[in-house]
Amino acid sequence: MTHGYEQSERSPWELRWIGLDVEQLQRTESTFALSNGHIGLRGTLEEGEPRGLPGTYLNGFYESYQLPYAEAGYGYPEDGQTVVNVTDGKIIRLLVEDEPLDMRYGQATAHERVLDFRSGTLRRTTEWSSPTGRRVRVRTERLVSFTQRAVAAIRYEVEPLDGEIQLVVQSDLLANEPIESPTGDPRVAAALDSPLVGEFAMAEDYRAVLVHRTRESGLRMAAAMDHRLETTDGLRTRIHAEDDLARLTAAVDVPKGEKLTLIKYVGYGWSAQRSAPALRAQVEAALDGALQTGWEGLLAEQRQFLDEFWESADVQIDGDPELQQAVRFALFHVLQAGARGESRAIPGKGLTGPGYDGHAFWDTESFVLQVLTYTMPEAARDALRWRHTTLDKARERAAQLGLRGAAFPWRSINGAECSAYWPAGTAAFHVSADIADAVARYVAATADQDFERHYGTEILLETARLWISLGHHGKHGGFRIDGVTGPDEYSAIADNNVYTNLMAQRNLREAAESCERHPDIAESFEVDADEIAEWRRAADEMVIPYDDLLEVHPQAERFTQHVDWDFENTPAEHYPLLLNYPYFDLYRKQVIKQADLVLAMHLRGDAFTPEQKARNFAYYEERTVRDSSLSAGTQAVLAAEVGHLDLAYDYLAEAAFTDLHDVHNNVRNGLHMASLAGAWLATVAGLGGMRDHDGSLSFAPRLPRGLDRVSFRLIFLGTHFSVEITPEEAKYQLLSGDELDIRHHGEKVTVSESATAMPIPEAPSLPEPSQPPGRAPARRRKD
Ligand code: BGC
Repeated sequence: MTHGYEQSERSPWELRWIGLDVEQLQRTESTFALSNGHIGLRGTLEEGEPRGLPGTYLNGFYESYQLPYAEAGYGYPEDGQTVVNVTDGKIIRLLVEDEPLDMRYGQATAHERVLDFRSGTLRRTTEWSSPTGRRVRVRTERLVSFTQRAVAAIRYEVEPLDGEIQLVVQSDLLANEPIESPTGDPRVAAALDSPLVGEFAMAEDYRAVLVHRTRESGLRMAAAMDHRLETTDGLRTRIHAEDDLARLTAAVDVPKGEKLTLIKYVGYGWSAQRSAPALRAQVEAALDGALQTGWEGLLAEQRQFLDEFWESADVQIDGDPELQQAVRFALFHVLQAGARGESRAIPGKGLTGPGYDGHAFWDTESFVLQVLTYTMPEAARDALRWRHTTLDKARERAAQLGLRGAAFPWRSINGAECSAYWPAGTAAFHVSADIADAVARYVAATADQDFERHYGTEILLETARLWISLGHHGKHGGFRIDGVTGPDEYSAIADNNVYTNLMAQRNLREAAESCERHPDIAESFEVDADEIAEWRRAADEMVIPYDDLLEVHPQAERFTQHVDWDFENTPAEHYPLLLNYPYFDLYRKQVIKQADLVLAMHLRGDAFTPEQKARNFAYYEERTVRDSSLSAGTQAVLAAEVGHLDLAYDYLAEAAFTDLHDVHNNVRNGLHMASLAGAWLATVAGLGGMRDHDGSLSFAPRLPRGLDRVSFRLIFLGTHFSVEITPEEAKYQLLSGDELDIRHHGEKVTVSESATAMPIPEAPSLPEPSQPPGRAPARRRKD
């Protein structure tokens, strides 16, 4: 058998892995993860073993632990939070005439798994011959329902391939599953060692329920399962439940030509407040709903949900089938991360693995929500509502730091800062402007007045207050924001980081406008005309440093005066640099982990001239090492804008393949949501040139050599429309809703039912910039 993802033109809508490669299981458990934003199931084999890193997650369900410090300091966050591997409902073991199905023994004559982006299911087919030569075919299909958010379901079918065989199936709910610690941090490992305390267990007929709570964070969860069995006569079943295990056992002799089919419905719920009986009732009700819908019904609902999603969000790429597949894979996972989060965070890894302890970062607002705002705006709204629910914690944090307004955390699950002190976390205040930017983008793209009044204005005004208290009017003029860390984590505590200042400027202006649109809300937060005027003055006078000699923007003041990093003498195995060089040295030299000034040129492209963009891009290309997966998508966007289309193609591919090719060698811990979103951004904002600076949409499409056609669909102000790009022209067409005015390379176009074709002007021709030695992206361009 061959091993690996099948990469054929036949798979634009699915990811298929053929063969079993135990070493690669951790990796494929992440790529084959299923989630609806509320429940996340890693793509483990049903029989539980062999396994890489099993994981079942509930969004927002975490354990706390103390963050100790060798040296104390004021304002250090004290509590860490880490995502918990909750009760596993995926396990279904099989005994074939008393030999357990375990792919490490006997022989798997066929084995493949398929993640299907249209059905929203993970399918598996295995033909296995036991060590004593008994052959069975196992077919499974599982889903985490987009329509019934507390429900997952598995269809499990076994078929004897020779004669009659005795089959025994055990279907489990297993809590406190022993797993190897995914982290090197002993405190996290201790917090995760049997984190769940049993509170209630019951089993009856084909149904069982387990209720547990965490030791420290005091959260309670329930998991429940129920089953339907179809087979020949003579079926014997037994069910029992104890603290950490509930098991349904079914035994039957199955003749050749017949099958044993088990449908397992699993329900999950958690709460910080509800009692064990209330949670039990909740998950049992979820199961009853799922049983009522039935397996076929759940499949049909899932399909319809995805049909509607692709109808408004699909991206097509002609000329590179592998990239087509990867971009759909990316969109599918971004959807899975956000679809039914419902006022919970979207973590950096979604619910696909334990990486980053399950924390959410600015990755959500700056990358993931750009995608969701234009493809599934309700999901963007819900994620922003989560931020709103954490405002009190952000206000407390600001007060603790001696600031006004709200300081959102660098990383968190429940909204409280849980980044142990380090300069790139505590001083990375830009996260608050990123959240404000996402609020403004969502409001402009949807005109959702209800959201703005109840959530948006408050976030905008509290973050505006943060900037006023963090910055000051300098003696020599200008509003300065000193001593902060921008997106590039290889610089820290710098003065007037251009990205931060431009995003704060936008934040201040958007807050002023939102308060003027909703004066009653502004008044309820004691915002008066003087305060609004103060925001506007700070925004107008914002310091944006510029190096007149080099004619580029320094990333922050004095950055361009720092000594250059010695790239020539940095061996390939010393990347990522943060693991091989001391931070103080990275901080004082010109070396960039990830797009920072370049990201400013995307999100605040209105603040730069085209000439500045081209020069800045070239300058920062030569110094950016991409030790973060957040970088490639943004570099694609700017490469395309300044005319380096082949390079944009290379970076688009890097963002799209980050997880499929395991570019950062850590996909086992979960997928990189910001990078998956970056694949969409590289396509839509890169090759499509989409910008949304002033609350309206503009496009500047151009294709690199080798791509014949790129098309994508978007939603703006309730209008669904498509953009189709070929080398010569771009077509804009309304799919539903009202006509819409957009710009194409600066020219006004009305998007209407009959497609409007617009010619594509020549790209500016500039010499292509280089990257630090050994750090150029893998070449995808067609020569
Ligand atoms: C990046 C941050 C990012 C975090 C989580 C870090 O490596 O530098 O920008 O927020 O990862 O993805």
